[in-house]
Amino acid sequence: MSEPALRRRTTQPSSTPVTSYQRAPPPPRRGHPTRSLHLSLALVILAFFVVYAQRQTVKPKAPLTYSVDDQRQLPEKYAICSKDGKKVYTVPIEGGVGGVECVVVDGKEVVDTGSLGKIRRKWINGEDGQKPLNQFQVLYLAPGQTLTPGLIDAHGHPLVYGQAQQLTLYGCRSPVEVIERVEAFVKASPPPPGTWIEGLGWDQNLFEGQEFPTAAEFAKSSLLKDLPISLSRVDFHVEWVSPAILKMLGDIPDVDGGQVVRDADGKPTGVFVDNAIELLKAIRPPWTDADRERYLDIMVKDALSKGLTGVHDAQGFLEDQQFFIKMAKERKLPMRFYSMLACGREEDFCGDKIEHFDDPDGHYTLRAVKMFADGALGSRGAALTDDYSDKPGWNGLMLKKEEVWEPLIKKWYEAGWQVNVHTIGDRAAKTVLDAIESTFGSDPDRGREARFRLEHAQILRPEDIARAAKLGVIGSYQPTHATSDMWYAEDRIGSERIKGAYAWRTYLNHGGRIALGSDFPVESIDPLKGYYAAVTRLSEDGRSPHGPGGWFPAEKLTREEALRGMTIDAAYASFSENLTGSLTVGKRFDATIWDDDLLTVPENEMLEVKAKGVIVDGKLVWGGVGA
Ligand SMILES: *[C@@H]1O[C@H](CO)[C@@H](O)[C@H](O)[C@H]1NC(C)=O
Ligand SMILES: [Zn+2]
Repeated sequence: MSEPALRRRTTQPSSTPVTSYQRAPPPPRRGHPTRSLHLSLALVILAFFVVYAQRQTVKPKAPLTYSVDDQRQLPEKYAICSKDGKKVYTVPIEGGVGGVECVVVDGKEVVDTGSLGKIRRKWINGEDGQKPLNQFQVLYLAPGQTLTPGLIDAHGHPLVYGQAQQLTLYGCRSPVEVIERVEAFVKASPPPPGTWIEGLGWDQNLFEGQEFPTAAEFAKSSLLKDLPISLSRVDFHVEWVSPAILKMLGDIPDVDGGQVVRDADGKPTGVFVDNAIELLKAIRPPWTDADRERYLDIMVKDALSKGLTGVHDAQGFLEDQQFFIKMAKERKLPMRFYSMLACGREEDFCGDKIEHFDDPDGHYTLRAVKMFADGALGSRGAALTDDYSDKPGWNGLMLKKEEVWEPLIKKWYEAGWQVNVHTIGDRAAKTVLDAIESTFGSDPDRGREARFRLEHAQILRPEDIARAAKLGVIGSYQPTHATSDMWYAEDRIGSERIKGAYAWRTYLNHGGRIALGSDFPVESIDPLKGYYAAVTRLSEDGRSPHGPGGWFPAEKLTREEALRGMTIDAAYASFSENLTGSLTVGKRFDATIWDDDLLTVPENEMLEVKAKGVIVDGKLVWGGVGA
């Protein structure tokens, strides 16, 4: 991974990235009177190239991940500037994208922004009474590049993502295709005895007949028939298991807020929906910290390489909290994690089992709780006020009884937690908003201070959008969910209710605040997919049920709104708008360098834009600067 600073010398230092950076400035040169002129000249030329090259570019050979104390760092004091105009987007909290030519960094923080001329006068020449900074370096973006605040994914599942990368089933067109992929996985990496084979990503909507698969499919494979296998539907709201797991479960009861799918004789078929998944969790072998570290490593590498500097963990399991806290204390989290605590099985309140936590550098924060009100739309678990349009007599599942919510939300609020609730259906949202309204009474200021969130907020009645905005509830949206669901969502809920679905712009128009995320690994971890979906409401190949202008185009976000939703607004949704999310004076320098301009790149090229360098707390954590 590392490389001696001088090995990548080049004859064209002005255009080629050169060296990994030395953390400490070199000691002052002493004279060497005994050396020959020839050697001295060679050293001078070499030194010229090194110094010159360092002023131009800083690029480690390989992405740096994991240790924030790694040696290869940017200078202690530096500016990053664009020679192409105002291509450093500061995204100030007050609004807009705040384009400037340069941002100046001292240690972990932004200390100035402005034009190239101003930066030269003030920070290099030391006019205006400002003492020039020692060892100050100006680094330039390469032509065409831009710099934005590091992107924040306001809703993802870090450890589950890492785990899921091992066996993904996205796009399988039949149960047989799924079985083939599982067989290939088992052949390539035979599981140690006792471990479960877990995969993610199947979707019965892609199968002929669109029926849930059954455990019997595994019995057809001589390789798989006796193995414990549990495969999550793409939305995580359904598990499809093998006969070996059914056998372990023994007698299988019905579960409130969930469904054990059964055949005509009442025998479980191997499919568990929503709360019924708890039955599986109860017997699943627990993760070890070594598992967790492996999963986290996979996730962090993918996230950084896509330009993310922060993620909100939308289900921070109680049993994983000590692992994250330990990682934060050991300074092994190179990006920011904001955890939403998820209690154990059948436990509504666990705020007395763990304390808030805030790492001094803000790389791990625990002060929020995540609860689930209902299931998902794809599996018809979302709780609707009226029946599903494509399934009369069925209106989904509330995962807790309606009357539980008001006392529960009050309890968490009074114990000092931010309350974030998964709501997909309009009945779920209404129930939770009723509870929130009663918690704050008629005082909207208390609501705004508490910054409660609806995670997904996917389908809302029009009056509830207005109410949520007034209560200061943050709509935590995933733009790619809209473009994944747009092919069937209107079938599920009909032409009237669809108007309040994925209605980001309506939420903003009512004065509401939003934050944007992906729900990885349910969707891609690549934030540009969310950015593209937010501003186009088109599939990746440019289609929608309403044609190339986008699905319900009135709900599109502007590029500025989308960028804010992934930076400063996501920071606000985690109470960290004073720390990150903008490149303005006093904030941590968390930034991403892109090889194009997200604000002007044509829509059909947006998904080709690449992150080239990622900086957290002023330190390079992935890629490089200037290449
Ligand atoms: C951000 O800073 C302002 C000004 O100091 C302060 O009033 C506010 O409470 C801070 N916000 C948070 C979330 O800490
Ligand atoms: Zn989620």
